[in-house]
Amino acid sequence: MFILINLNFRRNRRLRNTATLRSMVRETVLQKEDFIYPIFVVEGEDIKNPVASMPGVYQLSLDHFAKEIEEVVELGIPSIILFGVPNEKDAVGTQAYAEDGIVQRAIRFAKERHPELVVIADTCLCQYTDHGHCGVVEGGYVVNDKSLDLLVQTAVSQAKAGADIIAPSNMMDGFVAAIRQGLDEQGFENIPIMSYAVKYASSYYGPFRDAAHSSPQSGDRKTYQMDSANRMEALREAEADVEEGADFLIVKPALSYLDIMRDVKNNFTLPVVAYNVSGEYSMIKAAAQNGWINEQEIVIETLTSMKRAGADLIMTYHAKDAARWLEGK
Ligand code: PBG
Ligand code: ZN
Repeated sequence: MFILINLNFRRNRRLRNTATLRSMVRETVLQKEDFIYPIFVVEGEDIKNPVASMPGVYQLSLDHFAKEIEEVVELGIPSIILFGVPNEKDAVGTQAYAEDGIVQRAIRFAKERHPELVVIADTCLCQYTDHGHCGVVEGGYVVNDKSLDLLVQTAVSQAKAGADIIAPSNMMDGFVAAIRQGLDEQGFENIPIMSYAVKYASSYYGPFRDAAHSSPQSGDRKTYQMDSANRMEALREAEADVEEGADFLIVKPALSYLDIMRDVKNNFTLPVVAYNVSGEYSMIKAAAQNGWINEQEIVIETLTSMKRAGADLIMTYHAKDAARWLEGK
């Protein structure tokens, strides 16, 4: 067959010819500095409970947590986000804002040993309430403003323990404004808020709820977390948090919401954080354990896609592995 080649014929393959050339024109570069590693801390000693649905992830008592953060720092991962799994739960989540609560103790512990490690505290009530909801429940409904009071107390107690960043994940209306005011009144005006601004009600959180023992005992989270079908609503959520004084905007989950990530990146100027959630991690792990996919390549491709979609930072359970792989280890 005769093919007519004129002077305008474009050859996009020219820039793909060698590995060096490809790396020179690569638009998105993933690096270990992008990662925030989530860690689950429990009370007690010598506890390292594997989370069945999340291979490689554990609930750790503080002695094992010490080794974990040592490893994180050695790998050059700049930051962790902490989730507490308390022994005691009640209707108002008292352990979430207890001075000697498990997260407050873990924060102090981490900052004493590694002052340079950026310690982020997840601010929510669901692991601490006996009903498993992210706020105060009255007549089967999660009431907004009463929940805010407890969330402010939680954030302040985490700041007092030494948290570098407060990350509220509860999805109550006005939570950024309330927490900002609460922090400022206590002299913590320099602590940033990393808001779970765009958080969908998602089945991808299933394995996390095993890890954190935070499943709602009745109903679901659909009256406060977002409907996965909505796009404009994500912009309204992000806009509210920007106006209320958020310093970072989290989009969660990540993989099924990359369109939303790009929208948030294009419409606001704050740093965007992708939360590569538990279910996304478990699916890759399960397929990898079956030998069905190349785990290393899939993880790097997946995390790169989040950055390409607009994420400046990525919260991911793959962080330690990915940091090693990026260093060629
Ligand atoms: C608690 C919280 C959840 C996650 C982070 N913080 C679960 C939920 O809202 O039910 C999910 C993280 C993950 O799935 O990895 N509010
Ligand atoms: Zn919650």
